[in-house]
Formats: sequence, C-alpha cells, structure tokens
Amino acid sequence: MTERKLTLTDSSSGKTLDLPVVAGSEGDPTIDITRLNPELGYFTYDPGYGTTANCKSDITFIDGAQGILRYRGYPIEQLAEQSSFLEVAYLLLYGELPSAAEKTGFERDITYHTMVHEQVNTFIGGFHYDAHPMAILSGVIASMAGFYQANLDVNNPEHRNLAAKRMIAKMPTVAAAAYRHYMGWPSAHPRNSLNYPENFLHMMFSVPAEAYEVNPVAAKALDLLFILHADHEQNASTSTVRLVGSTGANPYACVAAGIAALWGPAHGGANEAVLNMLNEIGDVSRVGEYVKKAKDKNDPFRLMGFGHRVYKNFDPRARIIRKACHDVLADLGQTDPLLDLAMELEQIALKDDYFVERKLYPNVDFYSGIIYKALGIPTSMFTPMFAIGRTVGWVAQWLEQAATAHRIGRPRQIYTGYGERDYVPLNERG
Ligand code: ACO
Repeated sequence: MTERKLTLTDSSSGKTLDLPVVAGSEGDPTIDITRLNPELGYFTYDPGYGTTANCKSDITFIDGAQGILRYRGYPIEQLAEQSSFLEVAYLLLYGELPSAAEKTGFERDITYHTMVHEQVNTFIGGFHYDAHPMAILSGVIASMAGFYQANLDVNNPEHRNLAAKRMIAKMPTVAAAAYRHYMGWPSAHPRNSLNYPENFLHMMFSVPAEAYEVNPVAAKALDLLFILHADHEQNASTSTVRLVGSTGANPYACVAAGIAALWGPAHGGANEAVLNMLNEIGDVSRVGEYVKKAKDKNDPFRLMGFGHRVYKNFDPRARIIRKACHDVLADLGQTDPLLDLAMELEQIALKDDYFVERKLYPNVDFYSGIIYKALGIPTSMFTPMFAIGRTVGWVAQWLEQAATAHRIGRPRQIYTGYGERDYVPLNERG
C-alpha cells in the first residue's frame, strides 16, 4: 500500500516537501510537520491549537462531529451505566478493565492513601478563611512534592504509580478540607469503611456533634459525575499537565498546574459560572434577554455551559447528566426552578440561528451544577468536584507521557514587536 502523504510546494523557492500522513486507530488523519522547519524554514501558526496534535495517546477517543466519547475503547454511555468511578480510574490508568482481584486491590490501595499528613491541614489553615477552594487545591497539591520527596523520581515506574494513586486518593480529602476551612469546621478524617464517593460526602458534611449517614442517592450521583469528568483527551488542563510534565517536573507540580488551568471559566470553571448565570437570569421571562446578550459581539457575556472546541453535534456527557439531573432530583424528592430555567434556556438557544450556525450545544458543565446543588454542594465547590474526577485523566495522561519518549513542549511564535533599537538612558526619555 502506498504511504499517504501531502506534498507542499513553496511558491517562493519552488522547493517541495512530502509531509507524511499519520493515522491513528480512529479519528481524522494528521499531517506530520516535524520536517517543515528543517527542510523549508517555516513554522506553523495555530492559535489555540485548534488543528494541532501534540502527542499520540491510547487513552481517550472523541469524535466531535458524532458526539462520541470512549475511554480505552469503551463508550462513555456504557461506563456511566455499568461501571464505577474507581473501576474507570483503573481502566484509564492501566488500559484494561480490572479483574475482580485487581479491582479489590486497587480500591484498597486508593482507600488506604486517602489520609493526608496532618501538616497538610495546618497548611490549609494558613489560607484566608474565604479563599476559593481551587486556590487551596492547587496550592496544597503542589505542596505534596514536599511531603513525598522519597518517591519523586519520574524515571521510576513504581514512584510514578504511587504518586498517581496518592493524588487520586487525596484529592477528595483536600477538596473537602478546603470547604471545611471556609465553614470553620474541624477536619474530618477519611473512613476506610466507605467507598470513594461516600467517603467524600462524609468528609464534606459530617460534623462531630452528630452521626452522619451517607445518602446512597447522593453517592451514586457523585460517582456518575466523577466517571463523566474522568478524562477528555488533550483539553486545556490535561495539555497543561503534559506541558509541565514534559520538563521532567514532579507529578504534584504537573497536577497543581492542571488544577490552575481547570479553574478558568472557559474550562472547568464554567460549572460554577453556569449556576451564577442561572441565578442572575432568575426567571424564565428573562431568558430571551440573556440569549440576546450572548449573541451581542459588543457584550463579553457568553452563555456559560454552551459550546465546545471539539463537540460540534452534542456533548454525550451533557446528555447523560441532563437525564441524571431529573433522576437525582426525583430520587431526592426535590424540585429546582433552576432546572426548568436551564431547560428553557437550552430550548431557546438550540432553536436560535446564532447557536445553530456555530454548532453551540450544552456541554458537560451546563447541567452538572444543578446536581451538585441538589446534593448540598456549594457553588464554589463545583470546580473542585470536576478536579476530583479529572485527576484520574491528568495522572493517566502524565503516566502515559512519562513512560514514552517525549520532547519538552516548546511552541513557537510569530514575533510582531519592534526590530532592534538602542537603549535610551533615563534622562533622555520623553
Ligand atoms: N455563548 C455565545 N457565543 C459563543 C459561545 C457561548 N457560550 N461559545 C462560542 N461562541 C461563539 C463565539 O463568539 C464565536 O463566534 P464568532 O464565530 O461569531 O466569532 C464562535 O461561537 C466560536 O467560538 P470560539 O470561542 O472560537 O470557540 P472555541 O472552540 O475557541 O471555544 C469554548 C470553546 C471555550 C468552550 C466556548 O464555547 C465558550 O467560551 N463556552 C462558554 C464556557 C464554557 O461553557 N466552557 C466549558 C467548556 S467544556 C469544558 O471545558 C469542561
């Protein structure tokens, strides 16, 4: 079979270059441009990396046109329906669904790493009482490189695996502690008799004054949300983790950087922004006004929870969460006018030419906040909830990168500043 290639002709020099086409197991073909600069002297310009692949990966596949998301080949719908978060974590980290013994062993390992060093709680205590939990999360995870210095060799697979498990295990502990710091509650230590989502709910909401019983509906809903957020190939925060990881930095530093990237409202911060937006709209009668604002190019307002770089049909996670929203509210015996408002907003936007032409659909963040709210989780904790789930993806992608040959991530630029000019002494400046 002839090798597929693209032939590029430079109109100024007449030189040609064959660019090999690299095909993955699925997805659009990709042109390998690594010879472009050495052979023809050009770089490529792709702001926001809209058409650039930075790595090869076996972990997650997305088809944005068809609304497909698969972890290690398994459709997200099947995993959401049949699996559990820690099983999905094992799958993402190690490539296969675990056997019964592997599953039990992995769950035990994660459970026994949930406790944090007491000085971590002291560190959290140093934050201002109303610090955003994402600031605490990112700072505390970075600090863990100082707690686990004996196992920081990124070239040692055992050290890497231990760091991966530690971060998956401790992220809920730190997130819950950040919330308790704000509330002024004493720390709640993890309980090894509870499973992953139950333990998080216990650490969030239990108080010493009374016994806390985990609501199984809440635990199941959280487990589902963690599965849906677990990985999403090379999104902004994961690419940040890989970029930092490409320098050989320790895994805690990489994930702390990923947390910081997730915080932005164009990424994971959107779940918090959606709830704030729905509260601001307040009533179905004002939906039209906000849709108009979102379409106005002179207004920075965007419909939060709408649009996605890759999904141009629908976000399969949003579909699952939308249904879960109704189920969870019904199971908890709650109603929420914000859900009606969100559905109305979705309906109006989906019929509007502006959104139709730009293929803007609800994304994973549009409905998740309504579930979190129903579980009693405050708005400022929404993005930390996303971070708990996504930690698995971050560490899986970091492990994959660390185990394969890679170069330091170092994009180029188109320089548009001054040409050379002479220094002007202070007394001669106008
Ligand atoms: N509301 C109104 N208009 C929008 C929206 C929106 N939510 N999203 C995109 N658009 C418009 C843009 O103004 C642009 O219009 P134009 O072509 O007339 O200039 C067009 O749609 C394309 O938008 P881009 O910003 O170029 O799309 P990009 O792929 O760079 O951005 C993003 C994707 C960041 C998700 C964007 O849709 C957005 O800001 N959405 C709101 C924030 C959000 O929900 N983020 C969560 C994303 S999912 C996640 O990270 C977990």
